[in-house]
Amino acid sequence: MNYRITTIPGDGIGPDIVREGCRALDAIGKKFGHSFAYTETLAGGSALDATGEPLPQATLDACLASDAVLLGAVGGPKWDTLPGAKRPEKALLGLRAGMKVYANLRPALMFPQLSAACPLKAEIVAKGLDILIVRELTGGIYFGDRGRNAAGDAAWDTEAYSVAEIARVVKIGFESAMKRQKRLCVVDKANILETSRLWREVTEGMKGQYPAVELSYMYVDNAAMQLVRNPGQFDVIVTSNMFGDILSDEASQITGSIGMLASASLGDSGPGLYEPIHGSAPDIAGKDLANPLATILTCAMLLRYSLGLPKEADAVEAAVASVLDAGWRTGDIAGGASDRAALGGKLVGTRKMGDLVVRQIEAM
Ligand code: IPM
Ligand code: MG
Repeated sequence: MNYRITTIPGDGIGPDIVREGCRALDAIGKKFGHSFAYTETLAGGSALDATGEPLPQATLDACLASDAVLLGAVGGPKWDTLPGAKRPEKALLGLRAGMKVYANLRPALMFPQLSAACPLKAEIVAKGLDILIVRELTGGIYFGDRGRNAAGDAAWDTEAYSVAEIARVVKIGFESAMKRQKRLCVVDKANILETSRLWREVTEGMKGQYPAVELSYMYVDNAAMQLVRNPGQFDVIVTSNMFGDILSDEASQITGSIGMLASASLGDSGPGLYEPIHGSAPDIAGKDLANPLATILTCAMLLRYSLGLPKEADAVEAAVASVLDAGWRTGDIAGGASDRAALGGKLVGTRKMGDLVVRQIEAM
């Protein structure tokens, strides 16, 4: 089958890593008899430079007309002083809202091959680390009313959620838990926030449909602490846009695998939006230094969730695991100076790492 993928390489290392993601997809296509037609579009700083807009309408149209969207990264110091509406980040929010991708799946996974890079004590992660954060992505304070008073000496941002917005993302939380260890934790601030109390009410109304799921609630401050104290207690976390933003950064950092983590943003129908969780790393852009594995693993999520190709997704993940097992590393996952020295020729750049995955897929 032929699939239409819109790519948004974006800024910084985005083009370096999206190129390798597409190569991995093409290798999968060859192996399994699919083809991928790519439409490359602009968003973020590169779009600002070329068109004056962070998210040109043509980009959103191309995204909506495709089967899935693969995004590298947006933003960089060059555009950091621009006002809110003209910042590259605006492209991300516009894509999320425009594509109606309300559920952001952010797996925080520790790769056993890289466990030495985990900043937590070994005994805390003895059983590994595998958490799925489901972050609400198109509501809450990110999209609520905001402004300043006439004098400019006061400002507000509003957290607002409707029952429908809560129910659809909590449902993804329950369903994700059913496919995993069947534990769902709703993270909120229900001791203070009315929106959080509504999240709890809606969840209570739904839990009867998922009797197999062990449901819990946790305040976000406690959750931030528990993530470093005993992360193994979590299976799936579902939470609001802002809390999910913060906790997913924390969760990714404790895996020690920040250059390895993928994400998927999904709506009810229509294409999903896929991006590695790391940023645009402008300092190493175009230098063949970026780790393409997060993007390649993001392509696995794309195959699984948007194209309904689980075997193909498994193959990508297995290929990445084999390459790691064989000891190949990019700089970000190579450890300290002495580990690097010991790696010798197995310390590789973006293209070589991409090649290794492609060759592994071909050899399967
Ligand atoms: C993320 C990022 C974005 C967010 C920024 C860049 C707008 O932090 O995807 O987590 O806050 O959602
Ligand atoms: Mg963030």
